[in-house]
Amino acid sequence: MGVGLDHLQGLYADTSDPWGFAESAYEQSKFAATRTALSKSGYRSAFELGCGNGELAAHLSDICARYTGMDAIATALRAARERVPDARFVQGFYPGPLPEGDFDLLILSEVLYFLDPAGLTQLAQDISTRWGDAEILCVTWLGPTGNPLQGKEALRIFTAALPDHAFTCVTKTEDYRIDRGLTEVSQ
Ligand SMILES: C[S@@+](CC[C@H](N)C(=O)[O-])C[C@H]1O[C@@H](n2cnc3c(N)ncnc32)[C@H](O)[C@@H]1O
Repeated sequence: MGVGLDHLQGLYADTSDPWGFAESAYEQSKFAATRTALSKSGYRSAFELGCGNGELAAHLSDICARYTGMDAIATALRAARERVPDARFVQGFYPGPLPEGDFDLLILSEVLYFLDPAGLTQLAQDISTRWGDAEILCVTWLGPTGNPLQGKEALRIFTAALPDHAFTCVTKTEDYRIDRGLTEVSQ
């Protein structure tokens, strides 16, 4: 079982920023590193699963002609819409329907280890089917997640289910890593 909706709702019960994204120097520097890890200077359309309150979207949306974020939690999405008014934010709990879009960039930042192995494989399959040549950026916390899956294992399961993408670790610190997946077309 992945992390359930009730647990996510609990995290956001008293705040729209449970991880302190807006104030944390660590998080802000990680967002900057995430932008630096991208292979291109601009994208047609980006999709971020588990976008939270839109802090990462705020760091990336100016280089994406369109930006779509999805999160399970309405409180997070309200904050995201305020933070990045030009982006599109939709509510949904994955596994479930993903938004429509012609995405050439998929952002999976600190979200894979909220899913379970079946969800990770499903996500890889959905991506292969719909956005098979999109660039994929995975940001992964390397400390204890407190979730059933740890970051490295979630990343391993997800990337192994996407054989057409070659994943490279482009940034690694003691705390997190950023992996970028490209296909021959997206390179
Ligand atoms: C740690 S935050 C990461 C936020 C943002 N991606 C970032 O890196 O700053 C994880 C977010 O994913 C959302 N999330 C977790 N599991 C989810 C699921 N199964 N479906 C949709 N959203 C989910 C949570 O509500 C939370 O806002």
